[in-house]
Amino acid sequence: MNYLITGIAGFVGSSLARAILTKHPKARITGIDNMSFGYRERLSDIVDRIEFIEGDLVDIERLLGRRRFDSIVHCAAIAPLPECQRDSYRALSQNVAICGAVADYALASGSRDIVFFSSGAIYEGTAQFPTREDISIATSLIYPTTKYIAEQYFEAMCRSHGLNVTAIRLFNLYGPHQDYFRKQPPLIGYLLTNLIRDQQAVLFSSGEQCRDYIYIDDLLELVQLSAVKMMNELTGGKFVAVNAGSGEPVSVNAIIEILETLSGRQLKIERRPAAQYWDKYNELFDRPIALDRIVIEREVNKHTQAAITKAREELGWVAKVGLQEGLNACLNHAQRIILL
Ligand SMILES: NC(=O)c1ccc[n+]([C@@H]2O[C@H](COP(=O)([O-])OP(=O)(O)OC[C@H]3O[C@@H](n4cnc5c(N)ncnc54)[C@H](O)[C@@H]3O)[C@@H](O)[C@H]2O)c1
Repeated sequence: MNYLITGIAGFVGSSLARAILTKHPKARITGIDNMSFGYRERLSDIVDRIEFIEGDLVDIERLLGRRRFDSIVHCAAIAPLPECQRDSYRALSQNVAICGAVADYALASGSRDIVFFSSGAIYEGTAQFPTREDISIATSLIYPTTKYIAEQYFEAMCRSHGLNVTAIRLFNLYGPHQDYFRKQPPLIGYLLTNLIRDQQAVLFSSGEQCRDYIYIDDLLELVQLSAVKMMNELTGGKFVAVNAGSGEPVSVNAIIEILETLSGRQLKIERRPAAQYWDKYNELFDRPIALDRIVIEREVNKHTQAAITKAREELGWVAKVGLQEGLNACLNHAQRIILL
């Protein structure tokens, strides 16, 4: 198969390229990244086997010409919540308008099928667990709002232009190549960095809140199943939204306990109230953000659990990698790349 992966220097994009090449050494992969959040090192072992184009998707036609792809996997986005909150215009341009550039390119080049990375964050505020894909959605934070608008845009393009789009509503993802270095790395990257450096981790909660975590290899299998299923569709025009989660929520404290056991070290923890979570990003904000502290508190303490029936029934997919096994792989990798 011939893939275009956007955001290929990101966590998901680079892992996907590597997984495809491992399973299908003859697959052709073209990747674009503007390096706003990507790392070149993530591609170092595969860069000779892919075509990597550094550039912004806003210029996709100029960067690629008119090449047809069997599958376009659209990973590029601004993912950190505070980044989106800080500049909602930029968040909308990068997370919504860029989808327009990708879909228009797909149509112009005769590439019919797109896997789009949405997010389980769009279920913000729900009290229905496990959360099914068909519940009504009412977001208040900018990042999930951009993902939901993008889904609606893609659904319209499927109806009006015959594209096929699978929107993957990804819950908390983790894996060896996750981000350890950005100012606000996701939880597991943050815990591992502090554990390995023997530094104090600041946690803004009791740690009892539970989230649904999914290991990268399980996600990659879901992406490949989705791409192949769309390719085998005789006609276009189909939009599907599917959850990507393990279906088994786990608490922050349980993750810390596993990491401590695996590493034989104890994590130093300072706990602060959830409502203060974004205070640590003060330097990110050029202007005060008029955001209710209750919204922040609710976001930090939120419970998530994906309903996984749809992925099982439509794609024959279930998550297989257990937390212990996945965290062990992360720890081994992190110990190699995090400087003490
Ligand atoms: N990692 C998670 O836990 C998670 C959870 C839910 C959803 N998602 C979504 O999955 C997708 C992949 O996530 P990730 O963890 O790999 O994110 P990431 O930040 O590691 O990767 C995104 C990549 O896109 C690139 N990019 C951004 N805008 C671009 C543009 N205009 N042109 C070219 N490149 C651009 C960035 O440089 C980065 O390398 C994102 O859409 C994200 O919103 C991620």
